Amino acid sequence: MLTDAHHRIIDYVRLSVTDRCNLRCTYCMPENMRFVKSSALLTDAEIITLLETLASAGISKVRITGGEPFLRPGLIPLLAKINAISGIRQIAITTNGVLTHHHIPDLKALGITHVNLSLDTLQPARFQQITRRDQFAAVMQTLDNLLAHQMQVKINVVVMDQVNTDELVHFAALTREQPVSVRFIEEMPFNGQGHAFSGINWNYEAILDTLREKYTLHKLPDAPHSTALNYSIPGHAGNIGVIPAYSRTFCGTCNRLRISATGSVKTCLYGPDVLNVKDLMRSGEPLLPAIQQALHHRAANGFEAEQLHTSAPESMSVIGG
Ligand code: 5AD
Ligand code: SF4
Repeated sequence: MLTDAHHRIIDYVRLSVTDRCNLRCTYCMPENMRFVKSSALLTDAEIITLLETLASAGISKVRITGGEPFLRPGLIPLLAKINAISGIRQIAITTNGVLTHHHIPDLKALGITHVNLSLDTLQPARFQQITRRDQFAAVMQTLDNLLAHQMQVKINVVVMDQVNTDELVHFAALTREQPVSVRFIEEMPFNGQGHAFSGINWNYEAILDTLREKYTLHKLPDAPHSTALNYSIPGHAGNIGVIPAYSRTFCGTCNRLRISATGSVKTCLYGPDVLNVKDLMRSGEPLLPAIQQALHHRAANGFEAEQLHTSAPESMSVIGG
């Protein structure tokens, strides 16, 4: 088992498979984002070696992130190989939905049933403003197809002051008929200097207060390492959640390790890179001692990790979500 300096067990890895994206969400990256060369990415073989090693040390859940994962050539065959690793019990994926609808049968065939879809507005014009791209129809098609295939869908909504807060209740209304979980995420500073960031006006409590003006919310039990506080609404097929991503109330039970598309390891979203597994593998050094060592220096929470992190704001597409 991998454990950290604060006796937390690490059994979940979030792995980015590409930093590239076909959207340019303002809270994630600037329009002129520069992406790394393909040769700088972990290869499929390196990803498999890495995940086999992590699985041997007790990692049982993998979330595939990006950038946009479906921009990586050969993602489905890679997922099939990950699926075959003994010890990996759950594979989940976070996608922006632009290309995803073509791949839903493949995902189902692999037994991948949990898909997180990033969608911050239900209005086409606003989608174009937020993402700087005209892809709303494709994303909505993905949502419809995911539900038609009985996939378990979580919609990630980044709550942005003066941008989409008038839609909180519209997203909650969506859960009346659709069996989706809508999760409202506090905005975090990881926009790659896309725009100035000076804290948030809309924390999870403000979000819940706004929803309560229109809906009765009943607290649901949360899964052990859940970052979301989940609620049901009487009579609704789906449910809602809030993720205190900026308030960081959930660090005490954090069970995750993050690995970027180029192999950089973070022990906290807010912290610096502490290790590069691609460099280790390419120089033939063993992975586990280095990873365990990094975990022994892990900060207690996202505020302490942030203190250690002195460089300019990164883009979530580089960190890997
Ligand atoms: N703040 C909050 N959430 C963000 N995401 C990307 N950038 C940010 C940010 N600055 C979200 C995406 C996606 C998930 C991986 O992270 O919307 O759903
Ligand atoms: Fe792409 Fe996701 Fe970043 Fe938007 S938030 S630009 S969809 S990686």
